[in-house]
Amino acid sequence: LKKLYKRHAREGRPVKQAAVLGAGIMGGGIAYTSALRGTPVRMKDIAQPQLDLGIAEAGKQLAKQVKNGRLAQAKADAIQASIVPQLDETGFDAVDCVVEAVVENLEVKRKVLAALEHSVKPGTVIASNTSSLRIDDIAQPLARPQDFVGMHFFNPVPVMQLVEVIQGTKTSDAAVSTAVGYAVAMGKTPIVVKDCPGFLVNRILTPYINAFVQLVADGADFEAVDRAMEAFGWPMGPAYLQDVVGMDVGSHVGDVIAAGYPQRMPAIERNAVKAMVAAQRYGQKNGAGFYRYE
Ligand code: CAA
Repeated sequence: LKKLYKRHAREGRPVKQAAVLGAGIMGGGIAYTSALRGTPVRMKDIAQPQLDLGIAEAGKQLAKQVKNGRLAQAKADAIQASIVPQLDETGFDAVDCVVEAVVENLEVKRKVLAALEHSVKPGTVIASNTSSLRIDDIAQPLARPQDFVGMHFFNPVPVMQLVEVIQGTKTSDAAVSTAVGYAVAMGKTPIVVKDCPGFLVNRILTPYINAFVQLVADGADFEAVDRAMEAFGWPMGPAYLQDVVGMDVGSHVGDVIAAGYPQRMPAIERNAVKAMVAAQRYGQKNGAGFYRYE
């Protein structure tokens, strides 16, 4: 991998300044990780309260690093200052890469990205943190699809190593290399994957979650399944994992997998997750999923 990463570093554009669209769990995590690893970042959201939350979360993580003796206070202050919260796209013409992390909705992503193209220079890489939408589909309204690539981070971004870099039909090799280089600079382990529904991780994860739903439908207790999978050595069981990911996100991934590979997505699994969404049991993000959160 080291050799491969070196080649990408040679062929890509060094990301000295970055930007993130969306200050939610994913966008905020990406901005924090970028700044922590030395790449200053502009963080845009359309809502001031969400920006405040994103900045506060970065502050919380930095305070923890200081408390653990991993960062000096002055360094933590400098990192915090290198995350610039904003409600518009001022300064985006000076960034090398923008990661879009807005809601996982095709039309919203298309609209936001088409507008973004006017704020950045040609050659600036625009990356979407989509978890399963195809890059070619999102790229449809873009004037410069060669600059557009997928960069799929995992939650929680500061600790999850993997990043899926997705090359669409029109994505240039240089854009892929830039995305790989930026992920490596963030301390991540990027892999380049094909532009198919669910990419690599969600194609593997979905059948696992489906098997869990089937087990519960067969009468298994979800907490017992979680405990069993933890004892098996996985960091968390399938119910808790869905609470971390968010049932709304999981349901959307299920829809994309169902459209791409209908035979692999039985109705019972989709309906079970949709019932959780209908009951507003989204998971950790709103305090109740399989489990309850204070
Ligand atoms: N932000 C920043 N740091 C965090 C964090 C967060 N949200 N959560 C945990 N950490 C850090 C902790 O501070 C701790 O760091 P130190 O060791 O430096 O102190 C470290 O992670 C370990 O934390 P804990 O000991 O508290 O907890 P843990 O051992 O249970 O590990 C975990 C936490 C790494 C999140 C682990 O539970 C895990 O790997 N879970 C699996 C998560 C996963 O699979 N995510 C992918 C979901 S799929 C998805 O996102 C994609 C999609 O398309 C739907």
